[in-house]
Amino acid sequence: MSLEIYLDGEFVPEEQARVSVYDHGFLYGDGVFEGIRAYNGRVFRLAQHIDRLYESAKSILLEIPVLKEDLAEAVVEACRRNAIRDGYIRVVVSRGKGDLGLDPRKCPRATVVVIADVISIFPEEVYREGMSVITVATRRSRTDALNPQIKTLNYLNSIMAKLEANLAGKPEVLLLNAEGLVVEGTGDNVFIVRRGHLVTPPTWLGILEGITRRTVLELAKARGIAAVEAPFTAHDVYNAQECFLTGTAAEVVPVVEVDGRRVGEGQPGTVTRQLIDAYRELVNHEGTEIFVEEALQAGLKGGS
Ligand SMILES: Cc1ncc(COP(=O)(O)O)c(C=O)c1O
Repeated sequence: MSLEIYLDGEFVPEEQARVSVYDHGFLYGDGVFEGIRAYNGRVFRLAQHIDRLYESAKSILLEIPVLKEDLAEAVVEACRRNAIRDGYIRVVVSRGKGDLGLDPRKCPRATVVVIADVISIFPEEVYREGMSVITVATRRSRTDALNPQIKTLNYLNSIMAKLEANLAGKPEVLLLNAEGLVVEGTGDNVFIVRRGHLVTPPTWLGILEGITRRTVLELAKARGIAAVEAPFTAHDVYNAQECFLTGTAAEVVPVVEVDGRRVGEGQPGTVTRQLIDAYRELVNHEGTEIFVEEALQAGLKGGS
């Protein structure tokens, strides 16, 4: 059965969800996006994703022609219409249709798309046993070139790094910035446990400020796990007790080997396992209800 896609204010069947070849999102990667998850009939941290989308858009002077509340509702409605209880929602706002030149002034109206579908990134065994990653030659974009804090449609920097991962037969990589500091993965943030502290690179170093990262910092705080945002090198990762990645799609993924060096005991550590469990528990209970009517009725039935 074909999906119903939100396109510029209305829901249309997937086959009719077409965007112009003159759209500057297609021609130049000019636009912004979000990846959001739904778990157990709830959209996780919807408001934070919507806020980040509008912040990214503001940075690139892109006006989203929809109110925040309406776009948030479109995300929930996309799940409802496609019967998604557990899934992945992609919100894309591109500069819209223009001409072949790159001047954004030629694009009078942004294109807005919401797709609610399913996603599977890593098999369950990766969460049990951890994964092996490498650092790569591709450097994360500098904040003064294309700031990684902006979640733009231009993901070639991450894709170049992913190509290196593919060539090396690895599922994911760690990217360094121009100064050789570890910043993030291709679509995830990075944490280490070193000398008893949870450490993750600060935003100003040139990372996307992940919503999963923020959630994990909150979960750590609530559990009395000391956490700091501080720069670190590959040497720190090799000698860390634990390492893991976080992202909306990937969730919390243990890393047990980096550049052929075993991290800690070479298996997911206690802090990582604790945070994986805590994250899974949280996402199953918290979020914007998708099927409000059904939830109300279940409540009424349960009460009678
Ligand atoms: C480059 C990059 N870093 C980090 C993340 C993790 O962010 P979040 O946890 O909000 O998904 C993503 C996810 O889209 C990403 O693309």
